[in-house]
Amino acid sequence: MYDHEKEIQEIIKRLEKESIKFNEKIILVTGGAGFLGSWICDVLIEQGAYCICLDNLSSGSFDNISHLMDKKNFRFLNHDISKPIYFGLTNHPMGICVGDIEKIDIVMHMASRASPFEFTKFPISILKSNTLGTMNALGIAKAHNALFFYTSTSEIYGNPPDSAVPTPETYFGHVNPVGPRSCYDESKRAGEAFIKAYELQHKIKAKIIRIFNTYGPRIRYGALFGRVIPNFIHQALNDKDITVFGDGSQTRSFTYVVDEVEGLLKAVHFNAANGEVINLGNDNELTILELAELIIELTNSNSKITHNPLPIDDPVRRCPVLEKAKRLIKWKPTTPLKEGLRVTIEWFKSIENED
Ligand SMILES: NC(=O)c1ccc[n+]([C@@H]2O[C@H](COP(=O)([O-])OP(=O)(O)OC[C@H]3O[C@@H](n4cnc5c(N)ncnc54)[C@H](O)[C@@H]3O)[C@@H](O)[C@H]2O)c1
Repeated sequence: MYDHEKEIQEIIKRLEKESIKFNEKIILVTGGAGFLGSWICDVLIEQGAYCICLDNLSSGSFDNISHLMDKKNFRFLNHDISKPIYFGLTNHPMGICVGDIEKIDIVMHMASRASPFEFTKFPISILKSNTLGTMNALGIAKAHNALFFYTSTSEIYGNPPDSAVPTPETYFGHVNPVGPRSCYDESKRAGEAFIKAYELQHKIKAKIIRIFNTYGPRIRYGALFGRVIPNFIHQALNDKDITVFGDGSQTRSFTYVVDEVEGLLKAVHFNAANGEVINLGNDNELTILELAELIIELTNSNSKITHNPLPIDDPVRRCPVLEKAKRLIKWKPTTPLKEGLRVTIEWFKSIENED
């Protein structure tokens, strides 16, 4: 039986081991109703922070945060961050104003659709969230002298050659600027450039985290949503064919959500991460075929593996160098893939039974 509260307490235990507490901080989380954002909100609320979750519910779900709505220290704002919003003002000609929140300590900008299926369906919204949205979120940090935190992505590395895998933060990337994934890859790169400009010109304190594939409870599921682990689990639990792209020899490395959220909040906390770009992922690289076989085994499924054409510009290999994360924020992933998948499958069973 999946126990979310136990997982949140595990994150808090790991943070408090390093004396990390966000109580009494006022924290804006854009994208707070999404997969990762809602885990962040849960931890912040539990630690006694005042958490403002700003989300337009485009790829997130109200179900992820509904249990927080009656908490005194939680506030939900249904807003698109690519449109301006001002805190502590009652009137501004350029955008929405939230007058009663006068001070924000930390801005965590996480709002962006992130599934490959959405890259072709909603490219403009993705571009806006990471460019205009990042600019608006930086404007809030500037006005409040707040710390700024950005969830960038391993996708900014594009399709690196073998010589650049495992990939360090110093690798500039090999990205197609006009391909089907460019709305995501290039807008995240532009988001990073916005942050560097605000650091330089406005002396903003900022941290950029490049997240590698993360999975776990609350990830969007169903065959349509394009992320490999939820797709495979959904197919396996329903004894449907597991659809592997290409021959399945392409690699990925997967981080369990508890490890990832611990790392994200350690990055927010540690001053050593200020002004830095840090990879956050797992350096256990495996092929997609190995992943499919593992999920079939863990679900006791009768599914067979079938092959679909490889999507254009799909990266051949993904694996991070984690030296900076270990050194600057005292973090490394600790959950074995089998264990993370086992818990994720439990969660899937519970929600698929509800449907
Ligand atoms: N999960 C991963 O494996 C992964 C990998 C790399 C990077 N990231 C980054 O982490 C962040 C969170 O990703 P996630 O996996 O939780 O995705 P998600 O789709 O579950 O969450 C994104 C949230 O942002 C909201 N959103 C999107 N556009 C918005 C806008 N313009 N204004 C307000 N809200 C908006 C969505 O409704 C959703 O709640 C994203 O920035 C994503 O690019 C995630």
